[in-house]
Amino acid sequence: MRVKAPGRVNIIGEHTDYNDGFVLPFAIDRYVEVEVRASKDFSLTSKLFGQTIKVEKNEKRGDWTDYVMGVVWALEEAGYKVEPFEMTIDSTLPTGAGLSSSAALEVASAVAIMKLMNHSIDPRELVQICVRAEREFVGVRCGIMDQFTAVFAKKDHAILLDTMTMNYEYVPLNLNNCEFVLIDSNVKHELSSSEYNRRRMECETILKKLNKRSFREISEKDISVLEPTLRKRAKHVLGENQRVLKMVEALRKNNLFLAGCFLYESHASLRDLYEVSCDEIDFIVGFLKGRTGVLGARIVGGGFGGSVLALVRKNISQLNFEELDREYRKLYGRSIRVLHVNSDDGVLFSQLISPVSSSGI
Ligand code: GLA
Repeated sequence: MRVKAPGRVNIIGEHTDYNDGFVLPFAIDRYVEVEVRASKDFSLTSKLFGQTIKVEKNEKRGDWTDYVMGVVWALEEAGYKVEPFEMTIDSTLPTGAGLSSSAALEVASAVAIMKLMNHSIDPRELVQICVRAEREFVGVRCGIMDQFTAVFAKKDHAILLDTMTMNYEYVPLNLNNCEFVLIDSNVKHELSSSEYNRRRMECETILKKLNKRSFREISEKDISVLEPTLRKRAKHVLGENQRVLKMVEALRKNNLFLAGCFLYESHASLRDLYEVSCDEIDFIVGFLKGRTGVLGARIVGGGFGGSVLALVRKNISQLNFEELDREYRKLYGRSIRVLHVNSDDGVLFSQLISPVSSSGI
């Protein structure tokens, strides 16, 4: 049984998915693929790491096996019995590049295990199980965007998801002579999961201090009473939510110039207010800014490294990136990796798990 699940790029709406906000991701044509077969024990092989590891149910090792065994744990918690299996994991999705390889591994594993055990599952429940695996087993208190995208994404579309109501709609991606390009900084700061969890706690503190249940009840006026750091965090979340809606308008009107401006604005907000960027990423965005053919750029994903998403005109992109790589290597002693990606389907469409009706926002 082979199943693949895609990585994702979030066009805009970063660190909003655990704050009842909006996100606008699409799935990319890079995947984690798993192959499973029934076995006597749980045995997991990663082609990337060149390792085969035997694990017990509920055994947490603090490495890549946790994503799979977390899914086993969450499936059983949800009442699905899981018998031992052998799994081989292969991937065309770089890890640590902010493209959500962990969610892709969780979703591919969950679908493959369910198919192997002959269980059927509702796609929304599938998302919840994978999120639970990551939050409660792996220990990163992620939002819902990555797993939702790996399941619900549709080729040639982004998903506008309201993480408060869980309603979503597909927004066509008509980029004319432009494309989204990813520039992997090849940096993954150790801080990322602890700082990610800290940002979440800061957001919870904001709600408590303002005595609100949701960021959707908070306005710019309310946040002036907060101490400076919390005020910055809140300002980012409020501004970023607005930017998602403005980005959808810009894309619908085919105004890619404006779409690019929102990417730059989002980056500045993530760098200065939410403080989840880093020097290497800021250098890449700074290099691109204002260059002919580059409409916008920003950090994507959880932050502290990973990739930059740039909206560029197709014909000139190659030229810029060679120069960028030279400068980057001089400064940081490592190379960038440029990924030209296309949108693709999530497992709902590619693996034909049971269909659902989408509810618009
Ligand atoms: C990570 C998390 C997501 C989301 C982003 C930031 O990718 O897994 O849920 O919070 O960071 O937008």
